[in-house]
Amino acid sequence: MRIRVLGTAAGGGLPQWNCGCAECAAARRTGHARSQDCLAVSGDGRAWYLVNASPDLRTQLLAAPELAPVPGTRDTPLRGVLLTSGELDHTLGLLTLREAAGLTVHATAPVRRALHEAFPVGPLLAAYTRADWHTVTPGEPVELAGGLRAEPFALGGKRPRYAAGLPDHADWVTGYRFTEDGGCARAVYAPGLADWTPAVDRAVAGADLVLLDGTFATADELAKRTGGARRSPGMGHLAVRDSLPHLARRPGPRYLYTHLNNTNPLAGHSPPGTADLAAAGAAIAEDGTLHEL
Ligand code: MLT
Ligand code: MN
Ligand code: ZN
Repeated sequence: MRIRVLGTAAGGGLPQWNCGCAECAAARRTGHARSQDCLAVSGDGRAWYLVNASPDLRTQLLAAPELAPVPGTRDTPLRGVLLTSGELDHTLGLLTLREAAGLTVHATAPVRRALHEAFPVGPLLAAYTRADWHTVTPGEPVELAGGLRAEPFALGGKRPRYAAGLPDHADWVTGYRFTEDGGCARAVYAPGLADWTPAVDRAVAGADLVLLDGTFATADELAKRTGGARRSPGMGHLAVRDSLPHLARRPGPRYLYTHLNNTNPLAGHSPPGTADLAAAGAAIAEDGTLHEL
């Protein structure tokens, strides 16, 4: 299995275009920038799937050699997209893929509905390409090309803000556990982890690599920064400080925190406090890294 980490920032990226905070200023100065959360995964190194489609997708695809088109064609190794949520930072890039001859998108029922109603990327794409939409149901594995299998698990009912008018549903946010035919590699991707549930425990058991929610370092980080009242658990993001004890109790996998918000001091260049992470087998994910399992 191969995993190319295309982007590791939460919505807005690092630096964020309109933000002059210390972290964003440092990112501008040092060039240690982060593009928005997105992953590419392949079972056989030939057929590739995107997990989420970030607003930075065009640049991310151009920087990933394995996703380049076959010379002389408009065919690329990209076989489809799996979504972990309907959030804008995970779906705006779908519009970037409109030049594709065809596009397969896997999403849960509420996310699929949101992408046809509140944010109608489905109908928009239909004017440009043939898009095939498949409903993802937590607990039901999705068999993909190249021997890749994606096992979705539910991560909660946090709706995108633009979809406030749509009904409650337990499957607004999902994670995926990836396995491969005839191989033993196991990887987990969960950029939106509201809480450490038994489903998360089952997903990380026996995994080689776990990419997980690193949006905020602490639960009160955003409130402190913005003077607002929004705490990270209510936003669907368990803070790193609160997930670390779970990691420490489940040694084995390599844990990499991703979807880092620009308020998170761990998103910067040589951040403080990484000794605690290392002690739990964890580190901060970096844009563009390739993991061969
Ligand atoms: C999230 O991860 O919670 C969302 O992407 C936040 C947002 O940018 O609206
Ligand atoms: Mn996000
Ligand atoms: Zn900032």
